[in-house]
Amino acid sequence: MTRHSPIHADDTVVLSALNVAKSYGNVQALKGVNFDVHKGSVTTLFGENGAGKSTLMKILSGVIQPTSGDIILDGQPVHFSRASDATARGISIIHQELSLAPNMNVRDNIFMGREIMGATGVDYAEEARQTAALMAELEEEIDPLTPVEDLRLGQQQLVEIARALSVKSRILIMDEPTSALSASEVEVLFKVIRDLKARGVSIVYISHHLEEALQITDHAVVLRDGEMTARAPRAEIDLEWIVRSMVGDNFDLGTPPTGYDLGAPALTIRDLTLPDTGHTLRNVVDGVSLEVRAGEIVCIYGLMGAGRTEMLETAAGRLTPTSGSVMLDGQDMIGLTIAQRIDRGLVLVPEDRQRDGLVQTMSVGQNLSLASIGAFTRGLFTSKSDEKELIDRSIREVTVKTDGGDAPIGSLSGGNQQKVVIGKMLATNPRVVMLDEPSRGIDIGAKAEVFSLLAKGARDKGLAVLFSTSEVNECLSIAHRIIVMRRGRISAEFDHTVTKEQIMAASGEAAD
Ligand SMILES: Nc1ncnc2c1ncn2[C@@H]1O[C@H](COP(=O)(O)OP(=O)(O)OP(=O)(O)O)[C@@H](O)[C@H]1O
Ligand SMILES: [Mg+2]
Repeated sequence: MTRHSPIHADDTVVLSALNVAKSYGNVQALKGVNFDVHKGSVTTLFGENGAGKSTLMKILSGVIQPTSGDIILDGQPVHFSRASDATARGISIIHQELSLAPNMNVRDNIFMGREIMGATGVDYAEEARQTAALMAELEEEIDPLTPVEDLRLGQQQLVEIARALSVKSRILIMDEPTSALSASEVEVLFKVIRDLKARGVSIVYISHHLEEALQITDHAVVLRDGEMTARAPRAEIDLEWIVRSMVGDNFDLGTPPTGYDLGAPALTIRDLTLPDTGHTLRNVVDGVSLEVRAGEIVCIYGLMGAGRTEMLETAAGRLTPTSGSVMLDGQDMIGLTIAQRIDRGLVLVPEDRQRDGLVQTMSVGQNLSLASIGAFTRGLFTSKSDEKELIDRSIREVTVKTDGGDAPIGSLSGGNQQKVVIGKMLATNPRVVMLDEPSRGIDIGAKAEVFSLLAKGARDKGLAVLFSTSEVNECLSIAHRIIVMRRGRISAEFDHTVTKEQIMAASGEAAD
């Protein structure tokens, strides 16, 4: 990626944080940070999970208040007691966690609390018209009356974005806006961001997808452990600079584990087919056959819409295929429920971890042990200490940054919540673990940790691993084998000596 965004900015600073600190009990989320938002440009905030990015953004948008420090807007100190104070001054935020009401329709989600009033009450027709216009701008034609819960995750994220755009703010904060978007949806969003910039809107952007974020970055800022460790204009930085500033030293995502023989096929999928529920005549999963042997790590690469998620969800029992078979150690899994499959040792870490993976009202520890609760209530192991040991081990293994197992899940940073879901699934001691985009939203350090954990499981316990990704570099890390999916089918299969270009070509994507 060599595309650079032009800098329209005259380098005026519109909004700053001055020496801002924030503590949550003993946790010092921000330790005196200075941060500038430049007019008409994109300021990108990089940092590991728990570095304090969302905390800083919530302070700038009035959602929470700093423990100390000042906010300066247009050269004047301001005090925001609530989010609406910031909105009134032209600052809005797209939150990392979706904040839509699932049972309400798209229109009402966008205009909730800011209804357009006509002569005889709320002007629903005008609201619907504006909703349709916003969705058209985002090139996602969705009926304004569709309930949000009927939309796929990426579409929900676009509604969230549309809502922020509808406010016409002059400072727009985007906290991980693309985590569920497809490559083409990201392109559209970037076009919208460039338009906003041209109109003088200032943008703060946060993403763990570093290469993607670099495409629109004008100013880069790196937070580390609540402190700002680096900042520079786009022209002076590259990917390596970001990685180095984020984690401090060199690391990589690992290599395929070796030194042992692969076992028998643990997961065997034959001719799996799932029809499209929509209007295309094509099957979403179209006669997919694949095999993962004990101890083997296989990566599935593909663009969004290639059918990766659907294939994995069908294998896990979340979707019902029209034909084909899924076998675990030679045993037929079709007809078994998700729970029965988990029990047999076939687990999926889903893509939408926030919704499907966590119980928001429970603690970190309760969430971690949820899926493996059977292990503590069965046979001799009914003890609390076994459970505590498992929780502590999981927290360590997936490097969850938390005060401890009793902390509420909501107190964790977004990426750390995702690590809890991964830890929870691994704690069930699976034979086959499938992970759908395991690295979305987690920082590169944590990615390396998760990958090394999977590699260890494969080598030491004969765990069979099947993970999907849309980042080629991740395929070229620990996977022994790489399968490329395109339009519901397997379009190519490679061993780990394949090049980035070959993988991308097979997916229908050009490596630029
Ligand atoms: N409500 C809260 N209560 C207690 N601790 C919190 C709360 N919110 C955040 N924290 C802690 O503050 C620190 C910074 O969290 P923050 O959400 O800002 O991180 P982040 O940089 O956005 O990470 P991520 O990339 O994972 O989203 C973390 O250690 C987190 O656990
Ligand atoms: Mg965050």
